[in-house]
Amino acid sequence: MSLQRLRDPGMVVFLSGAGISAESGIPTFRGPEGYWTVGAREYHPQELATFHAFSQMPEEVWAWYLYRRSVCQAAQPNAGHSLLADLEQLLGERFLLVTQNVDGLHLRAGNSREKTYEVHGNIDYYRCAVNCCTEHWPLSQGFEDFAKGQKASAEQLAQLRCPRCQAWARPHVLWFDECYDEVTYRYESSRGAARQAVALVSVGTSGVTNLPLQMGRMVAGRGALLVDINPESNPFSQLAQESGGVWLRGKASQGLAQVMQVLKG
Ligand code: OAD
Repeated sequence: MSLQRLRDPGMVVFLSGAGISAESGIPTFRGPEGYWTVGAREYHPQELATFHAFSQMPEEVWAWYLYRRSVCQAAQPNAGHSLLADLEQLLGERFLLVTQNVDGLHLRAGNSREKTYEVHGNIDYYRCAVNCCTEHWPLSQGFEDFAKGQKASAEQLAQLRCPRCQAWARPHVLWFDECYDEVTYRYESSRGAARQAVALVSVGTSGVTNLPLQMGRMVAGRGALLVDINPESNPFSQLAQESGGVWLRGKASQGLAQVMQVLKG
C-alpha cells in the first residue's frame, strides 16, 4: 500500500508521542535530565509519576510537575505541530489527533480541543485527587517559571486544592499505576476511531504504551493503512512494514510534510 491510500474517503487518525515535541526541546521521562532528587534520594520519573508517590509526598510530586510544566510553557510548538494543525484544517471531519503528550503544544499550535484526544492528560490542568467530581481546571497564574528543585509556597499550595471538596488536587495526567478510562482520557473513543479509520499515522512514539499499540494493531489487523514517522525502528514501524504500510524514517516535521504533500495531491 502506498501513501496514496491516505486520500481514500474516511477518517485519518494521527497518533503522536514525545518525539514530536523533541524538536521543541522538551526532554522525555527517560533522559538523564528527568531525574529528581528528594533529600539524598534520586527518583526515576516512573517512580514519581504515580498515584502512590503522590499519596506519600504530594508536595514533592507537585514540585516536579510544576517544574516540568514550566519547561513545557517555555517551549514553542515546532513545524511538526504546525503541520498537524494544518492537516486538521485540510481534512476537516476526516481528521482526529490522539496524543500521549501532556505538554499542550498541539492545542497551542492550533489543533482543536474537539479533535484532540489527550489520552495521557494535560500538564496545564488539575483535578480532584479523591475524584469527588470528574471536572478538571486550568492551573491558575502564579506558578510561572517554577525552577527545578523549587518548592511550592504556602499560598501556592493553598491553590492546589479541589475547588469542590477542598481535598488535595492532583495534576490532570495519567500516572504509571493508573488505568485509561473514557471520561478522563477518551479511551473508548480512541479505540472506536481505530476501528473505523482508513489510516493511522503514528508520529514520534516508541510504542511502549498500551492504548496506542492496541490502536496500531486494530488498524493493521483490518488491512487499513498504517504509517509510522520515526527516525528509529519501533513496534509501529515494524507493524507498518508487516501490514503493507509505510515507515517514513525521519523526523516528525519531515514525515508530516510528506503526508501533507500526498493529501494536497
Ligand atoms: P518515548 O520517549 O518513549 O519515545 C519517543 C519516540 O520519539 C522514540 O521512538 C524516538 O525514536 C522518537 N523521536 C525522537 N526524536 C524524534 C523526532 N524529531 N521526530 C520523530 N520521532 C522522534 O515517548 P512516547 O512514545 O511518547 O506515558 O512515550 C509514551 C509514554 O511513555 C509517555 O506518554 C509517558 C511514558 O511513560 C505517561 O506519562 C502515561
